[in-house]
Amino acid sequence: MKYTWRSPSNIALVKYWGKHGIQLPRNSSISFTLSNAFSETSIEFTKKNADNNKVEIEFLFEGEKNEAFQNRIEKFLNSIVSYFPFITSLNLQISSINSFPHSTGIASSASAMSALALGLCSIENELTGALSNQEDFMRKASIISRLGSGSACRSMYPYLSIWGKNDGVSNSSDEYAIPFTESNEIYKTFHDSILIVSSDEKKVSSTAGHELMHNNIFAETRYKQANKNTVDIIDALKSGDLDKFGLIAEEEALTLHALMMTSNPSYILLQPESLKLISLIRDYRNETKLPVYFTIDAGPNIHLLYPHSIFNEVQDLIKNELSKQCEGGRVIEDKVGIGATLMSK
Ligand code: PMV
Repeated sequence: MKYTWRSPSNIALVKYWGKHGIQLPRNSSISFTLSNAFSETSIEFTKKNADNNKVEIEFLFEGEKNEAFQNRIEKFLNSIVSYFPFITSLNLQISSINSFPHSTGIASSASAMSALALGLCSIENELTGALSNQEDFMRKASIISRLGSGSACRSMYPYLSIWGKNDGVSNSSDEYAIPFTESNEIYKTFHDSILIVSSDEKKVSSTAGHELMHNNIFAETRYKQANKNTVDIIDALKSGDLDKFGLIAEEEALTLHALMMTSNPSYILLQPESLKLISLIRDYRNETKLPVYFTIDAGPNIHLLYPHSIFNEVQDLIKNELSKQCEGGRVIEDKVGIGATLMSK
């Protein structure tokens, strides 16, 4: 038996930054699900002759053996045996591809971990029938994705997902993401044009960045701000208030980087070109009054967020001005998408 899932990456609007326990967030976050940047992961499973209590896998990345990835996945699978007791009695042949090239500055862990988690849930359901309810299935897949790579838990639902307990958001949880289904239609048309300032591997990993929040003097204030921003951006997402949406998205992006700058030791991931781009985007918005905003992940690249109705205008801006600040003029086009799909079984 073989299951193949395709799962996309996501871009946070309200950022998860700071955690405890096993990838439990200190605040709630909300993200757009993307569509062009995805991983496609097949898991073929056969029964082992004898259960030796070991996780045994063969892993191919883009059709080739990759020992570093194989070790990481084996370690992860060993850590979740209590969630999937059957995995030690199977041989798993896992093969994965990414739609986007390695080292583009786009994180692959969210798409890769969510595609893997969905495949494991399909196997569980095939063997036990325990996840035949769609909601239970997605919830478990989200929990497993979270254990693999925090924000990966937000990757599989259509358009927008919320993760982290927030008293203002019913059914929200620290353990898994939930779909946000009340969005105004305009956000479902949003583009994310990723302006690549640098594709170098970042100097400080997200894991180290989360860790540094433990001693950041702004931490408690930040967690409150994020919880409030989650509630406020939900209002803007429901009503279609683009100005309010953009104000919060930009505040979140800059706060994330301010937290890095105020960590001890402090560090800076933004590059001169990142700041130049922010300034060009804000100038353009002031002049044209068009709804084009930015967000930034834990890196120097700038994500340009805007509705499809102004696609041509923004593409002109990118071509004429913004791409000049990018590494080799590189811009990766993505847009909001429908979430994970089962490709074959
Ligand atoms: O999921 P992690 O541990 O890679 O952390 C992701 C952190 C940010 O991408 C910066 C923010 C987010 O909410 O996705």
